[in-house]
Amino acid sequence: MRLSFPERFVWGTATAAYQIEGAVAEDGRTPSIWDTFSHTPGKILAGDTGDVATDHYHRSDADVDLMAELGVSSYRFSVSWSRVIPNGTGPVNPKGIDFYSRLVDRLLANGISPAVTLYHWDLPQEMQDAGGWTSRDTSSRFAEYAAVVAGELGDRVGMWITLNEPWCSAFLGYAGGVHAPGHANGAEALAATHHLLLGHGLAVGELRSVLPSSAQIAITLNPAMARPASRSEPDVAACHKIDGLQNRVWLDPLFHARYPDDVIAFTSDFCDWEFVRDGDLATISSPFDVLGVNYYNPVIVRHHEGAPAAARHDGHGNTTGNVWPGCDDTEFVDPPGRHTSMGWPVDATGLHELLVRLWTDYRKPMMITENGAAYEDVVSPDGEVHDDERLRYIHEHLLAVHDALNDGIDVRGYYLWSLLDNFEWSYGYSKRFGIVHVNFDTQLRTPKDSARFYAEVMKTNGVAAL
Ligand code: FCB
Repeated sequence: MRLSFPERFVWGTATAAYQIEGAVAEDGRTPSIWDTFSHTPGKILAGDTGDVATDHYHRSDADVDLMAELGVSSYRFSVSWSRVIPNGTGPVNPKGIDFYSRLVDRLLANGISPAVTLYHWDLPQEMQDAGGWTSRDTSSRFAEYAAVVAGELGDRVGMWITLNEPWCSAFLGYAGGVHAPGHANGAEALAATHHLLLGHGLAVGELRSVLPSSAQIAITLNPAMARPASRSEPDVAACHKIDGLQNRVWLDPLFHARYPDDVIAFTSDFCDWEFVRDGDLATISSPFDVLGVNYYNPVIVRHHEGAPAAARHDGHGNTTGNVWPGCDDTEFVDPPGRHTSMGWPVDATGLHELLVRLWTDYRKPMMITENGAAYEDVVSPDGEVHDDERLRYIHEHLLAVHDALNDGIDVRGYYLWSLLDNFEWSYGYSKRFGIVHVNFDTQLRTPKDSARFYAEVMKTNGVAAL
């Protein structure tokens, strides 16, 4: 039996600028924090950098053609801030704008609707030198940049995502030290949290004033599907803390114009939240249209007491700093069962459960803006990539989305991460998430079996029941 999706369901693929573009010093682009971080010895596996990546900057025409062949109806990509406004603030770089403008035109000519992410972690280095997201000024500079891009592309782009996974920017970047800028300071992470949210709110205001009223404005979060390891009171309390830092500290200000009291309390050793000024929460809670949800796996949390240090199977590798300020009494447990090559557990029930929770608590139309899996792909002697495990992962997660639709939850689309194998942040090129294989020596693209599977899903607007 084939299960069908709603008529106007959006089927897409997703990428991000630094992970695919390369051409880091071309046509006026200046370095971002990811250029600096990836060129810092020891930060990225095997010393990989995004200098060339998938060379998409020079191959975007062919990559769009590839998507057209697959039958993709929407493409989510991010704009590199320092390509468009070198140094982060000041004059606009026409060549930078031109690249994205041509990309948008080619997408539209192929019947693919563009979905723009304005910030997928690549802060201009000069903004970082001025304090990065710990500085309130960065929020305003981000809103200015959002207005510039919207002014240039807004006549042709209908879907706008302000930030991608700001939790990662704040906590992996400023507390855990595993993402750029590589700081290990809980206080900075909490200030960054507020300034990212403020930047989002200010950007929503700018986007509304520049874009036609039909434009859809979104923010993409990576909410944790956090499950307590047991029903014991300490485990449930530990899980609630993780839920606080990864979910409610973002969702509550966005939807209810307040920060959760418990998060303010358990982070009080790090800061007193004095960076929140009058009026900020009203700005942050400016209405937006769609909640973007990135989902990969659930996490299991339990109470932790004393030494030795807590287990951190939270999917973010070995961090130099503590990703979870104020949460020393929590730990993450690795569940049994299938795992991807990231070491992330495979459990599609988490996606369904997450959508139910978000819908129950916040009632906003949602898009899955990322979902996918990394596996150790091999090119077979027949020249093909038979990525059965990825195919199965995608299949199961599409069924989970279908379950949510059956529950009456307003899910409007699904963007597969990712179109291409690419630069997977601190893991460099060692982790392949693409439905299209990339040979990083020759830049040859080879659609994997999962790409053919997804093409069939998109063509039939449906998926077989398992
Ligand atoms: C998400 C990121 C994306 C990609 C996937 C695997 O956290 O948004 O860029 O790295 O994980």
